[in-house]
Amino acid sequence: MIVLKRNLLRLTDLTSEELTRIIDISIDIKKNKEKYSEKLKGKTLLMIFAKPSLRTRVSFETGMTKLGGHAIYYDTSNSPMGKGETIHDTAKCASRYVDIISARLFEHSDIEKLEEHSDVPVINMLTNLTHPCQIVADLMTIKEKKEKLNGLKLAFLGDGNNNVTHSLIYGCSLVGMDISVASPAGEKYSPKPEVINEARKIAKNTGSVIKITTDPEEAAKKADIIATDTWMSYHIPEGKKEKRVKIFKPFQVNKEIMDLANNNAIFMHCLPAYRGFEMTKEIIDGPNSVVFDEAENRMWTEMAIMLFVMKKI
Ligand code: CP
Ligand code: NVA
Repeated sequence: MIVLKRNLLRLTDLTSEELTRIIDISIDIKKNKEKYSEKLKGKTLLMIFAKPSLRTRVSFETGMTKLGGHAIYYDTSNSPMGKGETIHDTAKCASRYVDIISARLFEHSDIEKLEEHSDVPVINMLTNLTHPCQIVADLMTIKEKKEKLNGLKLAFLGDGNNNVTHSLIYGCSLVGMDISVASPAGEKYSPKPEVINEARKIAKNTGSVIKITTDPEEAAKKADIIATDTWMSYHIPEGKKEKRVKIFKPFQVNKEIMDLANNNAIFMHCLPAYRGFEMTKEIIDGPNSVVFDEAENRMWTEMAIMLFVMKKI
């Protein structure tokens, strides 16, 4: 009998039911920490990083400690991977030592290769294409604040061709939340068609409506959640900053945008954030911002994700 590994490379690796279960268990872990303190006793997580991180690195490592396990931070600037050793050999060797491999890489195809050759579950800690763990935390945060997911409307303003945006599109489609993405015209800045098409297929079953527009005001109207992300993701060269700031400026989240949303709409950002660019200071530091709850929830949701891939839940 072939026993299938559980991985999380894109949110579409999960069914709607599995995603909902992971979110609900994350909420339970946050409330009943002691219950979970030995669930991964003796287990080890490898965390491969090819890009910078604060939240992902610290929350995964602390989360693994809270589950009774151990995490290894492994920076690719000090690894043979990428300097001649193949992803195949890295995956095969690491699988002999650890119980879960997580990775933050550039190309999504590289994490797919890692998963293909790994004998243990693989968790995506961000690629240029997707950031699934972030969006599980975002959905948990929305559920805590709004007490539901289905039937709400989320508006994302800014970089559409972006890992967080792609995972939000997948996440909303899985939980039946409407999503409107407003980004500058052109394929360079819009969500990838493969992501939109895949999400729309899922949305047929969950009832979520996915709109892609170049009009930030239209997207923000009657939204329950307004979200954005940096205009300068880790993989974007610094030389592109001046041009991108000009292009993205009309998509900044500011008071005028928040005023179009529903009363008590919340503001979300995965962080790191750059005040004065993708949102104004008054919005991220204002009463409707939930960015630090969102950052905290990375840890509880990653604990649930690790339990899920280890088949403990
Ligand atoms: N949101 C997020 O993934 O942050 P880090 O880049 O700090 O890990
Ligand atoms: N889109 C951002 C997310 C950072 C957590 C990036 O890729 O840098």
